[in-house]
Amino acid sequence: MSKSDIICPCRHVSRQDVIDAVADGAQSMHDIKKMTKASTKCGKCAKKVETCLEQALSKGGSKANGKKDKKDKGKSSKKGKAHTSGKKGKKD
Ligand code: FES
Repeated sequence: MSKSDIICPCRHVSRQDVIDAVADGAQSMHDIKKMTKASTKCGKCAKKVETCLEQALSKGGSKANGKKDKKDKGKSSKKGKAHTSGKKGKKD
């Protein structure tokens, strides 16, 4: 299986996209869904995406493949959490 194989046809997400997302800090299916949109339509690819995620994490995860890390080092340390609360407002 090549890195360019599409693992989520609905969202046109490849293995490489998942590997890149892990390099950018993804550590769970939730992160992968958020970052790549994989497995957010029909969900049939969930197992493949999860397997790919596990492989990417076991191969060194966030820093081994981090081409972009070098540029962003220092910039994205604390601000990353700022937009995690998508829904602000009142609770009813
Ligand atoms: S194949 Fe991935 S959401 Fe449909």
